[in-house]
Amino acid sequence: MKLSLITAAIAVLVVVPANAEVYLWPKPQSVTWGNGQLEIPKTFKIHGPNISELQSAITRYTKLIWHEKWTPVQEPLEKSPKADDGKPKKPLHSLTVTVADPHAKLALGVDESYSLNIPANANAGSIQAKTVWGALRALETFSQLVQGHVDKKGLFVARAPVTIEDAPVYSHRGLMLDTSRNYYPVEDILRTIDAMAYNKLNVFHWHITDSHSFPILLETIPELAQKGAYVLHGKKLVYTKKDVNLIVNYAHDRGVRVVPEIDMPAHTGSWAAAYKDITTCTERFYLDPSGSWKNRYANEAGSGQLNPILPRTYEIVKKVIDEVTSLFPDSFYHVGGDEPLLKCWTDSPSVVEYQDKHKIGSDGLLNMFLQKVFGFVHAQKKTPIIWEDAVTTSNLSFSKDTILQIWTNTPEKAVKAGYKVIASNYNFWYLDCGHGGWNGNNTSYDQQEAPVTPPAIQKLLDQHSDWANSWAPSNWGGAGGDWCTPFKSWQRVYSYDLAYGLSKEEATNVLGGEVCLWSEQSDETTLDTKLWPRSSAAAEILWSGRYDADGVKRDIGDAMPRIFDWRYRLLARGIRAEPVQPLWCGQHRHMCDISYPAAFAK
Ligand SMILES: *[C@@H]1O[C@H](CO)[C@@H](O)[C@H](O)[C@H]1NC(C)=O
Ligand SMILES: *[C@@H]1O[C@H](CO)[C@@H](O)[C@H](O)[C@H]1NC(C)=O
Ligand SMILES: *[C@@H]1O[C@H](CO)[C@@H](O)[C@H](O)[C@H]1NC(C)=O
Ligand SMILES: *[C@@H]1O[C@H](CO)[C@@H](O)[C@H](O)[C@H]1NC(C)=O
Repeated sequence: MKLSLITAAIAVLVVVPANAEVYLWPKPQSVTWGNGQLEIPKTFKIHGPNISELQSAITRYTKLIWHEKWTPVQEPLEKSPKADDGKPKKPLHSLTVTVADPHAKLALGVDESYSLNIPANANAGSIQAKTVWGALRALETFSQLVQGHVDKKGLFVARAPVTIEDAPVYSHRGLMLDTSRNYYPVEDILRTIDAMAYNKLNVFHWHITDSHSFPILLETIPELAQKGAYVLHGKKLVYTKKDVNLIVNYAHDRGVRVVPEIDMPAHTGSWAAAYKDITTCTERFYLDPSGSWKNRYANEAGSGQLNPILPRTYEIVKKVIDEVTSLFPDSFYHVGGDEPLLKCWTDSPSVVEYQDKHKIGSDGLLNMFLQKVFGFVHAQKKTPIIWEDAVTTSNLSFSKDTILQIWTNTPEKAVKAGYKVIASNYNFWYLDCGHGGWNGNNTSYDQQEAPVTPPAIQKLLDQHSDWANSWAPSNWGGAGGDWCTPFKSWQRVYSYDLAYGLSKEEATNVLGGEVCLWSEQSDETTLDTKLWPRSSAAAEILWSGRYDADGVKRDIGDAMPRIFDWRYRLLARGIRAEPVQPLWCGQHRHMCDISYPAAFAK
């Protein structure tokens, strides 16, 4: 953890008095605050049962609070906050953690609830959790309660007594990272897992392979990475078994599950470097010479699909699944399954022949492939996850233990078809969107003057004043070249209602959601700014819910000062999160609001 330059500068500039406001992220389900300042002496200790994950978390968080000595950046609402209620208090000498079930495994549905109690006059605080995983979440919350005196010498809890009762709304709180389009060094993945734990996210969905590279080095079938991984400046960009173990154990220690995805049958062009014989339409330009989208071989540059009619394909697929499931202890395994294209398969005459002989369409081929793959996954006693396409586009039907990850629809279709769902709609939670196109030689950017609006469209716009923004020619205030533009701002990310359109009972089939970072235009140089603090916005929706307990929608206005402060706190913890506003806005509360602030009306 490096104290960044920006944070250091702020630490010097901050003026007394101590900020009596506490900014928690994600927001706990219930908090009661006092108004007393409780000193934390140097001898402060956190006690807890001898569970290795808990003990290492205690060591981490004890280090963190003394390193961080946090001073809020966001100005409090009241200009001169009452820093202390003036009543006599005993310093906080210790925090005691109790765990009811020390053996609970980190898995979907594990109890992550906790109570955190810091009394004003008892010398000691307490954390009560059902499981060690709940205790980890509680320690994170505790770290956010702790602030440093401006002289940077001592620590205190700003608003004691504090009582927090907390539990997540969703059990599957994920972040997906694509390491195929571009590679990320292991240390960047570990830092991402740290940041996930700070945000109480608990599933790292690792989209390991795709058409562009195959970076995981498997012992039973090393050729895939030996030939299919990127080589840059003479260095092979691979993840070895040792790397994978490190990532899995590091994540486990922080209460984060790692779910691997080896995408198939589409998105497998990289397999062809070693096994061209089991793929179709590889080494082709992804469009046909006419450039027609309808006749494409792949949805983006980098074609290739596994050939579904060859026994050898399944031999290799089985080897891959057997080894990958053994490397990742989690009970979930992601099969991929997105964007299969018939055109890629029919590029191979033997596939067409097979189709004619067996009277089988493209959906039939896909079904045949996926059923075999699910068999391999079930044989390893894992639960398969699959992108929704095969069900919601191809209308296939699978055993209902299959989890659908939705990305083009609301969860409604998949839930009503009887599946459990992970929600990742690209209109809200794709973090790569809005960065401009990446295709070569797209000449449409070169436009010096705004094009004239066609008269028929102008007429409609004149008739409907509320349509003012619905006509926007490309790159003249328009789309900007990437398929899922515009950029999903943190407010947009924060607005995703995972249970939209579902009854309360149906909503129980939404296990949670994942923000996704596809890496066409991302590698370790942009990782933190693309992920944070926007993934924090998703983390609060996943932990705290879109609605409060009394049915009131969680408010971007309420979230703004907290996420503002949280971003600086992430910086102080070594995560290079991007700014959400000018610093001035945090130092001039409400002055940057979009409408006249209610707080100023009195
Ligand atoms: C905690 O557990 C570890 C491993 O089970 C053991 O080696 C260690 O001695 C224990 N520590 C205490 C203080 O009991
Ligand atoms: C999808 O499949 C179901 C049954 O398997 C069928 O009732 C339905 O009509 C199909 N829908 C489409 C759009 O093909
Ligand atoms: C770029 O695209 C333009 C317009 O389609 C075409 O005329 C030109 O030849 C292309 N340039 C190259 C270098 O391929
Ligand atoms: C080229 O970029 C424009 C935006 O400038 C975009 O609308 C268009 O779809 C792109 N063309 C292709 C073929 O991707």
